[in-house]
Amino acid sequence: MKNITVIGTGYVGLVSGAGLSDFGNQVVCADIDESKISLLQTGKIPIFEPGLKEVVDRNVKSNRLSFTVDVSKAIRDSEVIFIGVGTPEGKNGEADLSAVFSVAEMIGKNLNSYKIICTKSTVPIGTGAKIISLINKFKKKDVEFDYVSNPEFLREGAAVQDFLIPNRIVLGTNSQKAFQIMQDVYRPLFINDTPIVFTNVPTAEMIKYASNAFLALKISYINEIANVCEAVGADVHIVAKAMGNDGRISPKFLHPGPGFGGSCFPKDTKALLSLSKELNEPMNTVAAAIVTNNRQKERMIDKLFNLMGNAIKGKTIAVLGLSFKQMTDDVRESASIEMIQSIIEKNGTVKAYDPVAIQNIKKHFPDIEYSTSWQTAVKDTDAVVIMTEWHEFRGLDLVELKQLVKTPIILDTRNVLSIKDLTSLGFKFDNVGRKAVK
Ligand code: UGA
Repeated sequence: MKNITVIGTGYVGLVSGAGLSDFGNQVVCADIDESKISLLQTGKIPIFEPGLKEVVDRNVKSNRLSFTVDVSKAIRDSEVIFIGVGTPEGKNGEADLSAVFSVAEMIGKNLNSYKIICTKSTVPIGTGAKIISLINKFKKKDVEFDYVSNPEFLREGAAVQDFLIPNRIVLGTNSQKAFQIMQDVYRPLFINDTPIVFTNVPTAEMIKYASNAFLALKISYINEIANVCEAVGADVHIVAKAMGNDGRISPKFLHPGPGFGGSCFPKDTKALLSLSKELNEPMNTVAAAIVTNNRQKERMIDKLFNLMGNAIKGKTIAVLGLSFKQMTDDVRESASIEMIQSIIEKNGTVKAYDPVAIQNIKKHFPDIEYSTSWQTAVKDTDAVVIMTEWHEFRGLDLVELKQLVKTPIILDTRNVLSIKDLTSLGFKFDNVGRKAVK
């Protein structure tokens, strides 16, 4: 087992640090953000991620996991350094790598013995080479290091399980020694026969982008199929299910919705597209997935306005679900943002509810009304929109809802409600690719 430093305590860094300590390693999670580290040092988790607190608590208790703002010392004291800082979207769709490069410089300056430098953050193909040359620029001549690209495939909301029981581990390096050390870092998974892909750095970097862009493409594809289903009277759920029965297609990521959001797909598809343009190797499929996704978000807004006869001014609309998907408080690129924005622009009033994401969306909309339950959100409203597939919305009591609202109009962008129940209760409703409003 190894002495490890994980730099960055966001979704990727914190889940990885906790998971690596759970595998038996000695892990320090380091971050320059003092507020995050002091929260962690007092046993609090700065993000909503199911199961994470339990893993952090048990490893802190066993003295395998600790937190520090002294990133330089943490680097000097460890044999394996994971880079897990953010790579947000830059001005022109490219990934902003400033945090990664400043960490690389810090690593170079503090390289006091042989170490493995391992990138977990999603970085464009070719970044590994830049990190290596930056470390070389700042390190002393007589110390050596090896570089590994080890992309993560964690889904927010299921990240702990994805880390502890992954469907594959990708290790990109040109060093056999580094590969041996990484085997030790991930020893329980090697013992478990988890598939390990041992390859070079650019291939590992490409695997991450190719995977995320493919999943994004799958979602845009089923969203377009859903739209055509509406026009021809087909049910997209039955279509997707039958498609998924074909093992070559698989049933996963064929759920239609309001368009993909989150911190990964929107950013990674744009970054891959931007790279492909730079290389003059067009990726028309990825470009189409992005266009379709933007259109899908607009379609949801059109659907709502259409349901309301385009009379939004002075009306109140309940928006149920603010996070980009269930089981997370993350609102980055959430379709709810465009939805709320459009209602406000049309001079409508929004009453919003989400079980965990209200604090985060308040940064976008400080002045709208927030409710502490779906019941208070929908009270006396002219229409209700479901934007996130939280379990509590799947189980909405439609009889109670109908009594609370002013007008029984519902847009279900996640297809969580029963068409049969909505019809029998006399709702005017719409959804995605099932039964369009007449
Ligand atoms: C995604 C990938 O699934 C992870 O493997 C990857 O590691 C991660 O990005 C990352 O790069 O860090 P995440 O963004 O957390 O994970 O969430 P997903 O579950 O993939 O959902 C992304 C979006 O697609 C959500 O808005 C979700 O509602 C939407 N979606 C997903 C659909 O509309 N339909 C589906 O069938 C599946």
